[in-house]
Amino acid sequence: MIQLVEINTRYQNRVNSQLEHYINQNAPISAQLNEAMAYGALLGGKRIRPILVYIVGNMLGTKLTTLDPIACAIECIHAYSLIHDDLPAMDDDDLRRGKPTCHKKFNDATAILAGDALQTLAFDILSTANAGLSAQTQLTMINRLAKASGDNGMCAGQSLDLQAENKKIDLTALEKIHNAKTVLIIAAVELAALSKVDLPCEHRQLLHNFARAIGLAFQVQDDILDITGDTKTLGKPQGSDIQLNKSTYPALLGLAGAIEKSEYLYQEALHALTQLPYNTELLESFAQYVIKRDR
Ligand code: IPE
Ligand code: IPE
Ligand code: MG
Ligand code: MG
Ligand code: MG
Repeated sequence: MIQLVEINTRYQNRVNSQLEHYINQNAPISAQLNEAMAYGALLGGKRIRPILVYIVGNMLGTKLTTLDPIACAIECIHAYSLIHDDLPAMDDDDLRRGKPTCHKKFNDATAILAGDALQTLAFDILSTANAGLSAQTQLTMINRLAKASGDNGMCAGQSLDLQAENKKIDLTALEKIHNAKTVLIIAAVELAALSKVDLPCEHRQLLHNFARAIGLAFQVQDDILDITGDTKTLGKPQGSDIQLNKSTYPALLGLAGAIEKSEYLYQEALHALTQLPYNTELLESFAQYVIKRDR
């Protein structure tokens, strides 16, 4: 676990400096827009998706410089999704990463535009020539990230999440929402795996199984923390789900049931890793961190 803490810090610093570069690469036409983008993308956050890109890619032998744009592109989509998630028309939250949410700091219109611009920046970054990747591989990555972000992935999850407010839904429906909301975690592993073109199909599938399990575990833990966490540590309002009467794992299974579910998913993630012929120690620690984290 100690090793993972060091690795997390190293990769967080790495992706932060890259992101800063991308957001400020051109003299801004609208200073306010770029300020809001930097505010939403750079201040705080665990960077778990970029860290996954780096750990998986590094495990497969891909250079960190090749992975940088992939890590940044996914984090841009994630940051945009959070800025929009907090808007009054969505979860209407005032606190994110220990600071006023983007629309509170700026205004709703600026937050919407900052999200929009971070989304397009993701594809700008991913489509820029990358010395470590063929154009075909980049195209596949762009396609996978687009699918993971839109009506086949994250946006669909967000839409179902909002529709399920004030409703009693069953476990299958809840799992569908949560799986869609966490497709970006799967995309992080998938894009990192795409960086190794000759990766055997079975290994790709096992990495996918791992990502699916930790993706869902991550969202189950996010639901759990809405109850057991505290606002200061979380950096976002504890109790937000309860206030909005969201469909969550603890709401459906009770707190103990939700914890049991995350433990089960953790075991499933480990099971996928044991079948891979690489040094998967860091990914094992990462899976544990996902279900044990307090923020
Ligand atoms: C929060 O994601 C939103 C969900 C997808 C549950 P993170 O917990 O990764 O948020 P940051 O990036 O660390 O702030
Ligand atoms: C947001 O889920 C998931 C996204 C895809 C952005 P939540 O609404 O549960 O995220 P938090 O709890 O506000 O971070
Ligand atoms: Mg939400
Ligand atoms: Mg929310
Ligand atoms: Mg949540």
